[in-house]
Amino acid sequence: MAPFTCLLFAFLASLSMLKDTHLFCSADPTDGFTDVPLTEYNFEMQWPYNLNLSDRYSNTDGVRRLWVYSTDKPFNPTTTTKPRTEIRIRGYDYSSGVWQFEGYGFVPNGTSGTSIVQIHRTTYPATVLMLMVVDGQLKFYHRTLVEPNIYDRWMRVNVIHDVDSNKITVFVNDVQKLEIEGNGPNAFYFKCGVYGQTDETYYMESMWRDIRVLKKDG
Ligand SMILES: *[C@@H]1O[C@H](CO)[C@@H](O)[C@H](O)[C@H]1NC(C)=O
Ligand SMILES: *[C@@H]1O[C@H](CO)[C@@H](O)[C@H](O)[C@H]1NC(C)=O
Repeated sequence: MAPFTCLLFAFLASLSMLKDTHLFCSADPTDGFTDVPLTEYNFEMQWPYNLNLSDRYSNTDGVRRLWVYSTDKPFNPTTTTKPRTEIRIRGYDYSSGVWQFEGYGFVPNGTSGTSIVQIHRTTYPATVLMLMVVDGQLKFYHRTLVEPNIYDRWMRVNVIHDVDSNKITVFVNDVQKLEIEGNGPNAFYFKCGVYGQTDETYYMESMWRDIRVLKKDG
């Protein structure tokens, strides 16, 4: 049934939208979205407060590498949160509309028990989404499998947050892998990197390139 429906839609679409080569079945997650401009200002770094950033972060040839050790200090002296090295997208906190994070991410074998993507809130609870690496699987928190066998390969990760509909979808390599309800209105922002959670390994690392933030048109 589903493949037929898909074909039917593609056929109907081809009648009316000959220009649109994506049609319904292989749409790019960014279709209908527009990039917001990003400069280094928009990449706010968080890292163990007693270290220099270069001890836990590098940005070489467009690849941002973030790492942290489970014994590191938190990102500021007044919090008891676990160690992290993260990019916090600054300047595009959002509380309405449809927003999207895109990045190509890479997690080396040996990193586990760590969040690599977050949609952060500004009031409790702290997050509405964490994508966590658990023994080589990418999961929604510790719960739902998003993508298996992620070690040592680049993945295109697209996270779409429809605030007004309270809905979040995650695409990996252009395939939708997760759709969840949000936890209600708030002001949100995107993060990526490494942030120790549960049963975290001593060493945690993720790499990111071609990070984009997009907003749905209209
Ligand atoms: C940070 O870098 C400065 C300048 O290179 C150096 O003097 C300082 O010792 C470094 N701090 C740490 C904690 O490594
Ligand atoms: C990860 O590394 C361990 C230890 O070297 C190895 O046994 C395992 O097969 C590796 N896993 C993957 C998915 O490469």
